[in-house]
Amino acid sequence: MVPLAMTRHNGEVTGALIDRDQYAALAHGVYLNQASLGLIPRAAIDASTRFLTEVAQHGNLRLSDEAEAAVLDGLRAEAATLLGAPEEAIAVIGGAGEGLSQMAALLSSPDGEVVLIDSDFPSVTYPWLAAQQRLGMGIRWVVDDPGCDMTEALTEAISDRTTVVCVSAVQFATGSQVDVPALVSHARRVGAYVVVDVTQLAGAGPVAMSDWGADALVCSGYKWLSAPTGVALLSVSEQLAAATPAIVGWKGTPAPFDFHPRELMLAPDARRYELSSMSYSAAAGLRASIGLLSDTGLDAIADHARTLGKQLLDSTAPLGWVPYRPIDGRSACAHIISLRHPDAVAADVQPWLVREHHINVSARVGGIRVSLHAYNSTEDVHALAAALERYLAASL
Ligand SMILES: Cc1ncc(COP(=O)(O)O)c(C=O)c1O
Repeated sequence: MVPLAMTRHNGEVTGALIDRDQYAALAHGVYLNQASLGLIPRAAIDASTRFLTEVAQHGNLRLSDEAEAAVLDGLRAEAATLLGAPEEAIAVIGGAGEGLSQMAALLSSPDGEVVLIDSDFPSVTYPWLAAQQRLGMGIRWVVDDPGCDMTEALTEAISDRTTVVCVSAVQFATGSQVDVPALVSHARRVGAYVVVDVTQLAGAGPVAMSDWGADALVCSGYKWLSAPTGVALLSVSEQLAAATPAIVGWKGTPAPFDFHPRELMLAPDARRYELSSMSYSAAAGLRASIGLLSDTGLDAIADHARTLGKQLLDSTAPLGWVPYRPIDGRSACAHIISLRHPDAVAADVQPWLVREHHINVSARVGGIRVSLHAYNSTEDVHALAAALERYLAASL
């Protein structure tokens, strides 16, 4: 059956950029929810389970101490290219919250003040709230107001008191986007550090840590990077790669299997932020996924989302659905679009879409949050638009 909205949209039809057979869920429904629990391609699951099976069944017979010491080297190299940073800047960690907490523990002080977005993901704000409780660190909150440029709102909040700015490059709930280079250049004027969570950007579009000049980037693996949970990336400046982390572990030493319990020996680079024997199988999956995304091309993936995003808005605007911000503005990204309707409650629409149409989106802060990744196509967008049309027809 031709979806209703298809008849309204006369533009080109855009196919998926990555083979949809890589994702079992796509055989049964429409997945527009990569910003939540990202689908993992079969290639990454194979890499992950292969590693897990080898080590689970054969232990040190298949993973010697030497091999374990080098087990994350390949991922660090791929991650460096992905994040636009040198390899020495990269640490492989267990979760974004861990990296953000490391940075907050290092950069907080009793007389410091951090600029945060008040609707940012809690992993980004909590470490600073803890620093406030422990040390009395000051916090300056900025609002993600669709009527204001996100970057301008942040730069206006930066003052002589600011010591750190910590934000997500793309806001998880609304898709609002920060112009990171502009933010960094402003923060530099007052000597403030800039810590950026790129969890909702990396894998959906290009990231360029060195060009941006940010002090630290943190990225969880299970969203747009399409990896299993339990692995994330931290990328730090040369200065932070030489600092003593607030939290350390045996895997942060230059040669972990040399064991020097009475002497704190720290790796000469960002590896000093690595703590424990983390989920190597998740890391193997992440490496495979980054390979797939990089081969597809991050610019191509971003362009793809923009094309689909415009198709989505063309199809849903006549029905009265409005995006949180105009898609072509500086403060919007195209791969997370939050749609709102004056007569629809997102928290009701979301389960109805799953139940009636097998369409997965999230309901976040009053909007239907639609994620557009490389495996999505015009057909997915039209299926959603048609379902939203039916929802309104049935409920009004
Ligand atoms: C911006 C952002 N950062 C971090 C996280 C969570 O990452 P982790 O579970 O690795 O701490 C999320 C999850 O939605 C997120 O949206």
